[in-house]
Amino acid sequence: MPNKLGLPNLGLGLGLRSQHFDHILKKSPEVDWFEVISENFMDSHGRPRQILKQIAERYPVVMHGVSMSIGSTDPLNFEYLKSLKTLADEVNPAWISDHLCWTGVLTTNSHDLLPLPLNDESLQHVCDRINQIQDYLERPLIIENPSTYATFKNSTIPEWEFLRIMTEETGCGLLLDVNNVFVSSFNNDFDPVEYINGLPHDKIVQMHLAGHQNCGNYIIDTHDREVNTQVWKLFQMTYQLASDASILLEWDGNIPAFDVYHSELLKSKKYMDPTFTESAQEKIYADQEQVSNPLNVVSLELTGHSEY
Ligand SMILES: [Fe+2]
Repeated sequence: MPNKLGLPNLGLGLGLRSQHFDHILKKSPEVDWFEVISENFMDSHGRPRQILKQIAERYPVVMHGVSMSIGSTDPLNFEYLKSLKTLADEVNPAWISDHLCWTGVLTTNSHDLLPLPLNDESLQHVCDRINQIQDYLERPLIIENPSTYATFKNSTIPEWEFLRIMTEETGCGLLLDVNNVFVSSFNNDFDPVEYINGLPHDKIVQMHLAGHQNCGNYIIDTHDREVNTQVWKLFQMTYQLASDASILLEWDGNIPAFDVYHSELLKSKKYMDPTFTESAQEKIYADQEQVSNPLNVVSLELTGHSEY
């Protein structure tokens, strides 16, 4: 059934990872759809792109980008957009998404999803750019909330309010990353339930789930493990408000075997039921989800309450 932006509910999907190409092509697993990182295929005309075309013939596909740099003050990169549009013409994605962030300035790409101050000026800037991009791509953009580690002194609009106005002004949709809401709320000391309740639920086309790493006084959005129980609970609440959204589990580090990845996705079925509560055993496991402070992560000494 199409959701309120006229886009379909694709069901439960997984990120397409090169480690799983052979398994997917040989076994055709019963996954509803795949999300692909656009940049991994835009500039490839070799095997990965051929494989993507084969998978797109069997499964619905969504293109998820990480370098549109919607919040940057650099001019829009129309070479990038042309390449994105060419790939979209080839694989016919259900939609194209990217993040509320900037990735670089003065032509330098940081290869990171950087936050921007949220105020009237940045809102106008972002809306103008989304309108231009949608006109060029000839389709609505779906914008994801980022995970953040600090706030700006000159932010004047709560993120959920910024996203609501942005959808009204541009007609774009939302990709609500529930884990990102949890990570940002912990790092920046806001109420994730207030955030979720403040969103325009009829604009949520897709949701992301992912694992994170709790380092004690801050959380890193690592995408390298199972989904945290508290994030599942936030998802359970959110799903009741946006039950026609497509669901996608991200996993980008320590990527497990396909069946492990898929079984973690299928846990979401339990949490779609508003009456579901964890078993006693699962509660014990949740209580044991401990803080970790790995040596392989560079700490920027962000306390989670700092501003810049
Ligand atoms: Fe995400």
